Amino acid sequence: MRKYHIITHGCQMNDHDSERIAAILENLGYEKTESPDRADFILFNTCLVRENAELKVFGQVGALKGWREADPKRILAVSGCMMQTGPAGDIIRDKYPQVDLVFGTKNIEKLPILLKELEEEGRVFDTSTYSVDGSDLDLAFDRKSSFSAYVNIMTGCDNFCSYCIVPYARGREASRPPREVLEEVNFLAKAGYKEVTLLGQNVNSYGKDFQVDFPSLLAKVAETPGIDRVRFMSSHPKDLSDDLIHVIAKYPNIERHFHLPLQSGSDKVLREMNRHYTREDYLALVDKLRKAVPDITITTDIIVGFPGESEEDHQASLDLCRKVEYDNAFTFIYSVRPGTRAGEREDQVPDTIKSRRYQELCDVLYPIFNRKNQAMVGKRVEVLFDGQSKNDPRKISGRDSGYHLIHVPGDQNLVGQIRQVEVTEANSFALMGRVLN
Ligand code: SAH
Ligand code: SF4
Ligand code: F3S
Repeated sequence: MRKYHIITHGCQMNDHDSERIAAILENLGYEKTESPDRADFILFNTCLVRENAELKVFGQVGALKGWREADPKRILAVSGCMMQTGPAGDIIRDKYPQVDLVFGTKNIEKLPILLKELEEEGRVFDTSTYSVDGSDLDLAFDRKSSFSAYVNIMTGCDNFCSYCIVPYARGREASRPPREVLEEVNFLAKAGYKEVTLLGQNVNSYGKDFQVDFPSLLAKVAETPGIDRVRFMSSHPKDLSDDLIHVIAKYPNIERHFHLPLQSGSDKVLREMNRHYTREDYLALVDKLRKAVPDITITTDIIVGFPGESEEDHQASLDLCRKVEYDNAFTFIYSVRPGTRAGEREDQVPDTIKSRRYQELCDVLYPIFNRKNQAMVGKRVEVLFDGQSKNDPRKISGRDSGYHLIHVPGDQNLVGQIRQVEVTEANSFALMGRVLN
């Protein structure tokens, strides 16, 4: 039986696309292997949100030249956001002859046809849009986990934040009909899944084409019997409604965690980023969330070194981080993305300044994370365990409803279970605990 191996970069959308690609390949008779050496088909599902994500792929594809040349029947494929937009697809075609097949984010369903073309005609490069009818297709994923599942509720993005390439890689925003989403969640609950994560680039703008908005959809998902935990991401602050906050407060199985990407704490930079909120708007949202759901954790995404960012703008970001007291954050150094508005600007911040600001941001954030995590020590939390700890094989890791990463001594039997845990220790990035029941 032919074996496949997929390497996925980027965000949850790509992870979930890889689960779909895996299902298609298995349907064609392929079998998964964790070892690239044993594979007959290797696929890189790529990301281009920052330059380093792109560079990594060229290196990895380059390194497989020998593997590909060792057997003419082997297939090396590249897919995903980086192939869908920008020059990378052409570079792969012209400079990486070892690559047999390229497809994009919009024609995953065409993979069986593309593989046939490859067999009959040789190298195939196709990133055109291709869609198929039939909602049962949407249920066919080879999910990595048997207890926690991603569910797409929308694709694409219409926000065009000026630094971001995602709207070019993923196309225009489109919501999936609520009936389809709920059918899939029901199917997952019956199959024994305990947790679902609803995915969209901006879930708060869900349902413009339907009578069901995101808060109503979320409530219906939370009401599905058997679903113990509901997560969702991402939420754009400009569209966060009071209704959504009420729904979170009402349903205890919706995670006590809100990922609210800030990007910058400077009103000038926020305007130039095309974010449509001010720091005051943002602080008011945080306040509202904490009043309605007092135990909620708040995490964020922040970029340093956006074009034209002054020292004062940077200080405004640091100040806002101190004010909000985030539980965790993804921090990024601005990366020029050709084709975006910010990428065209002349007033790019020099790398040395960007690195210094990045360090200063971490220096502000890490002690806050530590303080907030220390405040968890002695508390009881409910943890869904998802696998062996990356740092210590004798420990099992999971997440509580507030999305804290927590490690406990234990064995693989815990994986997939929800247990009460007492938090015993903490640092800036994780909690340690012991299972109580
Ligand atoms: N739609 C989601 C996630 C988008 S990508 C959202 O809006 O939250 C994830 C994060 O990558 C963004 O939130 C942003 O912080 C970061 N990012 C996007 N483009 C970037 C760039 N050009 N340079 C650095 N970070 C970037
Ligand atoms: Fe990018 Fe903004 Fe869309 Fe998020 S909302 S994907 S940051 S354009
Ligand atoms: Fe995700 Fe990267 Fe594409 S962040 S949407 S995989 S560009």
